[in-house]
Amino acid sequence: MAETRHTKNLKVLVTGILPGRAQEILADFCDVEANRESRNLSKSELISRVKDKAALLCFLSDSIDRDVIDAGQELKVIANYAVGYNNIDYQYAEKKGIFVTNTPDVLTDATADIAWSLILSVTRRIIPADRFAREGKFDGWNAFLFLGRSIQDKILGILGMGRIGSAVAKRGIAFNMEVIYHDLYKAPANMEKNLKARYVSFDEILEKSDILSLHVPLIDKNRRMMGQKEFERMKEGAFFINTARGELVDEKALVEALKSGHLAGAGFDVYEREPEIEEDLRKMENVVLLPHIGSATVEVREKMALMAVENIISALKGEKPPNSIF
Ligand code: GLV
Ligand code: GLV
Repeated sequence: MAETRHTKNLKVLVTGILPGRAQEILADFCDVEANRESRNLSKSELISRVKDKAALLCFLSDSIDRDVIDAGQELKVIANYAVGYNNIDYQYAEKKGIFVTNTPDVLTDATADIAWSLILSVTRRIIPADRFAREGKFDGWNAFLFLGRSIQDKILGILGMGRIGSAVAKRGIAFNMEVIYHDLYKAPANMEKNLKARYVSFDEILEKSDILSLHVPLIDKNRRMMGQKEFERMKEGAFFINTARGELVDEKALVEALKSGHLAGAGFDVYEREPEIEEDLRKMENVVLLPHIGSATVEVREKMALMAVENIISALKGEKPPNSIF
């Protein structure tokens, strides 16, 4: 009989639909139970369905808390289909000896591109200008039509110089921006040189940036790191961009900073109470709102799926998965 790699006794729960061939590859190796509906599993469904599973492949929209982890008595690995993993109680998983994996690198450029889409859209008023043109209101060139702000020779502040922050900084060179950054640690000198980026304190990045872009992970100490005090400290007329996590920002304080005109505009891909979006933000013309699509390209999403599957297969083989977060 032909040798089969299929190990029927190993069961995996996939909480949503995966693009590309990833699920086939996984099904070749173990027994896959997938949620094929286009809705998230509820907490009680997660709890009951994870019970006999050796692996869980989950999405940002799944909250994998202690109760879910405790229910997964057989769990060896939780593979998140995302680079951020704040939706998982990963410290608890680690304590229980369960691997947690993410999908870094493959989505870095796509997410940096989305941050830049927001920067350009908000400074050049692309969304209202498009709406204006569509509505048939364009009746001839006009020297004052949709004046935006130039970004050349302005200061781009990168808060969090990890993979994505660096990729955003790198694009800043092409746009002739001066790049400053703040992080827990100063980057190595050759990286600063390549990115033409200068390390500054947290206060300085707030005070100097014409455009401030957020790229830190959501860990407890970063929660609401941008609040009233921080927005007040920002330069008059600056722009704020968030493609990281909504909970890093006190959204009410941000709304106030925009309403008062202290900030000139903002661009978001993420929200504090996602998927809810502040009513006030939805009414503002000087903000651009995206529905968390940082990594949303066909190419990247297929790579993320393959990566998550590879992490599961290696954990089930008893190896340390390549993208284990600890
Ligand atoms: C998206 O937000 C991700 O963390 O991958
Ligand atoms: C995310 O993976 C980052 O390092 O910025």
